[in-house]
Amino acid sequence: MMKRAFQTSFMITIVLFGVSCESATESKIRHIQGIAQGAGLGAQALASFSASLKAKPERFFELLDKILAQAEADPWLLVRADKARAIPADYEPKDLVSLDGTSVVVSRPGHRVRLPAYQALAAAAAAAKAEGVTLLVSSAYRSYAYQESLFARNVAELGRQEAERVSARPGTSQHQLGTAVDFGSITDAFAGTAAGRWMGANAGRFGFSLSYPQGYEALTGYVWESWHYRYIGIEASAMQNEYFGGLQYNLLLFLDAYRATIAVTPKK
Ligand code: DAL
Ligand code: ZN
Repeated sequence: MMKRAFQTSFMITIVLFGVSCESATESKIRHIQGIAQGAGLGAQALASFSASLKAKPERFFELLDKILAQAEADPWLLVRADKARAIPADYEPKDLVSLDGTSVVVSRPGHRVRLPAYQALAAAAAAAKAEGVTLLVSSAYRSYAYQESLFARNVAELGRQEAERVSARPGTSQHQLGTAVDFGSITDAFAGTAAGRWMGANAGRFGFSLSYPQGYEALTGYVWESWHYRYIGIEASAMQNEYFGGLQYNLLLFLDAYRATIAVTPKK
């Protein structure tokens, strides 16, 4: 009798333990869903994010922990730089390295990128080369002043309305972050080249993400740029592809909102 009672209470304990574990994950999921909702994701993106999160929560939290640690160590890595969020005019990365004299093939001397982007770029270029594909860097870091002259030139050539679709106003270009790279011809033809296809299939493995995908001008504010990739890190690329439908814009919206909730919550 005693043995039976013990067994029963043991079973109840196990069941209760199981239930409480499950609800802890569920409440974490609810918390994340709330942040994604507040981040301004569209209804469809939100629904698909929610479904992926519920299907693979452990993977999500594992990636999130790594991404947050990276963002803490490198505060500029995952910042938003888009039509609704500018970066300071005087922001200039401290760790720019020249691509001159490196293994990376360049369109002209003088291209620079941030060190973590360089390391990823060199690794990607070597992997592409091993498959007989050359990645040519045509544009990389651009200062605020340079972007200002570039945008003005685009406005003069195309008119303001068209210029806004293809060129960032100074202070809102990812190129000012030193982690964005334009490859090849900087035309739609790049998508059909060996390098364009290689980047389309492999960029994420090296932490690069296509910033302005085809069909998302309403979201990103820019027409499709098959040549423009931003280095965001391997884990962020994985999260983008596994939870945000491959959309860097939505990933960065979410991460920005998530980091804001940590910043306003006083540390215990
Ligand atoms: N072409 C992209 C949007 C830039 O100017 O940064
Ligand atoms: Zn670009």
